[in-house]
Amino acid sequence: MNKVLKILGVVVALVVVVALGGVGYLMMAFPNVPPPAVVTLEPTPDRLARGKYLNDHVVGCTTCHTQRDWTRFSGPIKPELLGAGGEPFSLGPAGVLYAKNITPAAIGSWTDGELQRAVTAGVSRDGTPLFPLMPYPHFGAMAADDMHAVLAYVRTLRAIEGPVPPRTLNFPMNLIVRTIPAAAAPQPRPSPDDKVAYGRYMTRSALCADCHSPIDDRGQPLPGRDFAGGTEFLETGYRVRAANITPDADTGIGSWTEAQFIDKFKGFETPSLAVLSETERRQNTPMPWTAYAGMTREDLGAIYAYLRTQPPVVNRVTRFPDAQ
Ligand code: HEC
Ligand code: HEC
Repeated sequence: MNKVLKILGVVVALVVVVALGGVGYLMMAFPNVPPPAVVTLEPTPDRLARGKYLNDHVVGCTTCHTQRDWTRFSGPIKPELLGAGGEPFSLGPAGVLYAKNITPAAIGSWTDGELQRAVTAGVSRDGTPLFPLMPYPHFGAMAADDMHAVLAYVRTLRAIEGPVPPRTLNFPMNLIVRTIPAAAAPQPRPSPDDKVAYGRYMTRSALCADCHSPIDDRGQPLPGRDFAGGTEFLETGYRVRAANITPDADTGIGSWTEAQFIDKFKGFETPSLAVLSETERRQNTPMPWTAYAGMTREDLGAIYAYLRTQPPVVNRVTRFPDAQ
């Protein structure tokens, strides 16, 4: 009996040592990304114009980093709080994130390299690993000149003081998150003449898959379900499910022509800002239609061309289950 207890004691001690060693290793060795680069983001007029276009209509820094008004269609941002953060993003049982203040009031003292590392590799100035809902895995693959343009533009936001609540990341996500940041690997932007390759680049930069491609509970894409929709969102106060945007004719957007696709977006260019009725709110959407509406017809057409190359997936989605 004594011997058994002794062995048990040794085993428990070993488990504790291994566990502590593992956590210690995670804390020491991760996040594993290079130190911030020494860069200067010259704010040339061309660069600022490109950066504003990408921010406002494609990559959506200030779409996430500004509080939104879900009583109106598509949750317009509160312009007087541009970039000041505070919008919550629930991760279910894993915790809750708050988009940070990215105006000079919060990051004005960061170097350009520190800002670039946070946005493209996922490590904050103080070494905190960011959760990848902040889309650094996509931003790290964007063309260097596009990313420089966006960051140069972000630097021009008006300083707005505004504290943002700290995030909650529960075990084990608080440990797993340390292993996710990775060095940026910028890819050149394909020529718009190669419509599909360029469309893939724009689709990725505009984060379409982040909502439209379902993931498992470890955040991994479900194989064979790219762009098949069905993921549920609660931002608007009601359940809304991402549409199937694969080329399936029946349950996806296979029957849409390129012109119909582009016109659907362009239809939101001057949205009504009216407060929605209770009935209308049940069909409100977290998809930033009004932001995407400012994309050029060429860029939207390229996204359409890329989506057409995806395998059609049969998946009938009820987009607004609370509307009935
Ligand atoms: C889909 C929403 C979303 C988009 C789009 C987005 N962010 Fe974020 N961002 C977040 C969230 C949420 C956090 C906080 C993550 C965390 O706490 O782990 C964050 C964190 C950051 C941080 C770290 C700030 C700090 O104090 O640690 C910076 C800098 C940042 N984002 C800049 C940007 C820029 C620049 C863009 C556009 C290129 C951008 N973000 C696009 C949601 C987003
Ligand atoms: C924040 C999440 C989110 C992002 C990002 C997003 N969508 Fe959506 N999308 C939705 C949701 C939810 C719906 C269903 C409600 C609605 O129709 O607005 C939807 C609907 C659609 C529809 C309408 C389909 C139909 O049958 O009427 C199309 C087309 C679409 N999205 C394309 C895109 C494209 C292309 C992108 C990238 C440029 C994109 N979405 C980015 C969440 C998102």
